[in-house]
Amino acid sequence: MHTLIVVAHPDKNSFTHAVAAEINKAITTSADHSVEMADLVAEHFDPRYELADHTLFTRRTPVPADVIAEQQRIDRAEALVLVYPVYWWSFPGILKGWIDRVFTNGWAYDDNAQGKVVKKLGRLKVHLVAIGGADLRTYARHGYFGAMKTQIDHGIFDYVGANVVTSELLLVPEAGFPASQLAVAQRIGNNIATAKQSPAEDDACQTPPEPAPVSAIAYHEKHDFPS
Ligand SMILES: Cc1cc2nc3c(=O)[nH]c(=O)nc-3n(C[C@H](O)[C@H](O)[C@H](O)COP(=O)(O)O)c2cc1C
Repeated sequence: MHTLIVVAHPDKNSFTHAVAAEINKAITTSADHSVEMADLVAEHFDPRYELADHTLFTRRTPVPADVIAEQQRIDRAEALVLVYPVYWWSFPGILKGWIDRVFTNGWAYDDNAQGKVVKKLGRLKVHLVAIGGADLRTYARHGYFGAMKTQIDHGIFDYVGANVVTSELLLVPEAGFPASQLAVAQRIGNNIATAKQSPAEDDACQTPPEPAPVSAIAYHEKHDFPS
């Protein structure tokens, strides 16, 4: 099984990179698993959605070469892991731009002639790992993690039919690399390494999705954390 880990942070010494490395290490302890790391900042991925992207959206021009390269990386993978810091209660801009440009009409989904959306990434298992600097009480009081899940898990990945297996928020309100949070990263990697190989596409639509693990934040949001 092959996994693509996408990391969106400019500093290789950041906690975000440490989490991505921990997930990579846990996956690759299993001999039949391979990982490709996509470090969007180091690779200078261009997140600007420009005219060539828009004329592709309206199906007037071909897919730009840098977008094809990213789509091929995803095509090679059965699991996609996104590891990113929370910026303004959402993705960093570079990762949002990666989604805007790479998840194209025609590849990630198809707006067909009947006005229906055909979801095209049903084979993909997605693991979302957000890293935030605020504390749990702030997230719970404002429902920020729920808002992120609506936008990202549902708004993006459900739209293209991908199965969000993991959606975690790791909080690091203090400086440092908390061992408990790195243990969560290790668990995510282990889960990917021990997940069953995807069934054939015909069977895939009959297989019920694996339930996403409930994170501490989701628990507190459900249980009306006091403000
Ligand atoms: C531009 C910017 C916006 C941020 N916005 C948020 C935010 O909305 N919520 C939050 O919890 N942390 C926010 N943070 C804090 C980062 O999420 C935090 O620094 C990071 O996750 C810590 O891990 P790192 O060592 O990987 O940077 C923000 C940081 C920056 C630089």
